[in-house]
Amino acid sequence: MISTLAWTPDGIRFINQTKLPLEETYVLATTYEQVADVIVSMVVRGAPAIGVSAAYGVALGALRSNAASAQDFAPEFEKICARLAGTRPTAVNLFWAIDRMKRVFADLLASGSAMARVQDTLLAEAHAMYDEDIAACKTMGAFGGALLPQSGGVLTHCNAGALATCGYGTALGVIRSAVEQGKQIHVFADETRPFLQGARLTAWELMADGIPTTVICDNMAASLMQAGRIQAVVVGADRIAANGDFANKIGTYNVAILAKEHGIPFYCAAPWSTIDTATATGEGIPIEERSPVEVTHHGGKQLTPHGVGICNPAFDVTPAKYVTAIITERGVLRAPYTESLKQMEMVAV
Ligand code: MRU
Repeated sequence: MISTLAWTPDGIRFINQTKLPLEETYVLATTYEQVADVIVSMVVRGAPAIGVSAAYGVALGALRSNAASAQDFAPEFEKICARLAGTRPTAVNLFWAIDRMKRVFADLLASGSAMARVQDTLLAEAHAMYDEDIAACKTMGAFGGALLPQSGGVLTHCNAGALATCGYGTALGVIRSAVEQGKQIHVFADETRPFLQGARLTAWELMADGIPTTVICDNMAASLMQAGRIQAVVVGADRIAANGDFANKIGTYNVAILAKEHGIPFYCAAPWSTIDTATATGEGIPIEERSPVEVTHHGGKQLTPHGVGICNPAFDVTPAKYVTAIITERGVLRAPYTESLKQMEMVAV
């Protein structure tokens, strides 16, 4: 399995996703500040991977601290959490992971723990999140794999694979599982301008698994659907609101509209840590605006005239009405999502 991120005695080792697919290189983050930089620069990206990276970042901050006790460490802990929370605003998994670390730290503080215990406990919590993430991907993969056709083309957008999680993937986990179930799936990967997660990352990891994959430019999906070459769409999510609206990589909304027009099922696969019931609808989801350079340049080469206006929102919101089902590790949810999400949340508690 691809090692997206791994805890080592020296720090956290990340596969450098900005260099894939041409170079397989790794970056070692030895401080929490470096973890924050790695998230901002998209060396690591994808909502679940961002969340677990931040949890390890908090643990790393504790390990590097000279504090003697939870009490001493408390102001530094707040600073570490704030720095990591300030990296990418859309993926709710980031805030979910930091909140979970905060709850663990609150108990350590209340019990007057020594620093060695703080360090061990925070690291153990990050390890637990890592293991849970892979398990969630495998479970949602099995649920979602059963929904895909026995054979046919499946379109995906961006990269919601092993590289976006701790392993196996959400949308690509669904595809992997369908293939493991013996289905004949041909993946069409949207290249996903401007950062090219589809062309670079989805293509790379599916080829490593021997899953037949064709990269298409983002503007080719409609034509392929019209030609009957796509039987299902499956994508990931960065944040799912209480009514089922969800944010994912810019361009996902286009694909959802196209799928509806062509009568093609459109699935969203995500772990429960991506569901944000505190945000009522997609309108409340903050959308990250990234540097114009991602649009104006490619591979260091300028593509656009000097001074032209540039817009670079990293995500868009797909309204729930376009979503055939939301696939989670707790089960497959159908509309109306306000009810099904609420029910599933209560069942799991
Ligand atoms: O900007 P990115 O590459 O972090 O965006 C990633 C996506 O949009 C993914 O589809 C989403 O995070 C789900 S990853 C399992």
